[in-house]
Amino acid sequence: MHLIRRPRRLRLNTTIREMVRESMVDVKDLIYPLFVVPGTGVHQEVSSMPGVYHFSIDRLEDEVKEIGHLGIPAVLLFGIPSRKDEIGSEAYDDAGIIQRAVRIIKGAVPSLIVITDVCLCEYSSHGHCGLVKNGDVENDSTVELIVRTALSHARAGADMVAPSDMMDGRVGAIRKLLDAEGYVNVLIMAYSVKYASSFYGPFRVAADSMPHFGDRKSYQMDPANSDEALREVALDIEEGADIIMVKPALSYLDVVWRVKEKFPIPVASYNVSGEYAMVKAAAKMGWIDEKNVVLEILTSIKRAGADLIITYFAKDVARWLTTRSC
Ligand code: PBG
Repeated sequence: MHLIRRPRRLRLNTTIREMVRESMVDVKDLIYPLFVVPGTGVHQEVSSMPGVYHFSIDRLEDEVKEIGHLGIPAVLLFGIPSRKDEIGSEAYDDAGIIQRAVRIIKGAVPSLIVITDVCLCEYSSHGHCGLVKNGDVENDSTVELIVRTALSHARAGADMVAPSDMMDGRVGAIRKLLDAEGYVNVLIMAYSVKYASSFYGPFRVAADSMPHFGDRKSYQMDPANSDEALREVALDIEEGADIIMVKPALSYLDVVWRVKEKFPIPVASYNVSGEYAMVKAAAKMGWIDEKNVVLEILTSIKRAGADLIITYFAKDVARWLTTRSC
């Protein structure tokens, strides 16, 4: 007679479960997004994202010190300019909101890795991610401005630039200019696989970046595709990306998995605003346990293969993990 197999032995108690645990969320895997706005004395909650705040530059120092103390290694910066125009001028202005914010943050907490989102959508009057010609975003002229933006961020002291515009060829063009200007050690985290997702809704309220006409489907990816994701990643690696990103995370965990299986490169995944807002709303209604759900979500992103997670929950998670009990 053959013995009954007992997989439950590996779940017997906390100690054994922890010994055989395969995926774990570590605070060092987390990247925390920050929204910087014009003005002074601003520390205001974003209506669509409870627990996420707009900061004016003068209020950033305390916030980044707290982030540093929590052990979070990196922030991802988004800026809302005081003035928008057709060509998103403030994005690549050395005195622009992000450039000033980077200098303040690096001065306050030099060890905090400052990553800048490189895109025109927050800076353009039409809300698109690049230059609009004949009703669509023109690729090559947009790349020129994206590259200027990335260089300007590097000059301000950014450790890493993260192009999120989805124009073809921008990673290679950024790498070339950064190298030519002596910024050989500035990393590129490419939003390589960025879907045209409805999960960005709350962010677009926070960043005031809703397109004024049309949508982003001619440059962001079709949610139905994942072979295309592999082609995008291959191109970005060839063009010099150091880290590649899949965004959003939860509806695209299969894509994270496929990318990680195929390419030996650090993979980041963005747990985006809509994913955040859904958890917040359900938790507020008392329908789910926020802490347990968030830890389960982030663990699932790690299990799918992400090395890094960009999440609005980073500060909460850092606090929870330091007081981890089982
Ligand atoms: C574009 C950008 C977007 C997000 C990050 N970078 C919005 C968009 O493409 O419309 C979304 C992030 C989120 O939803 O949390 N600069």
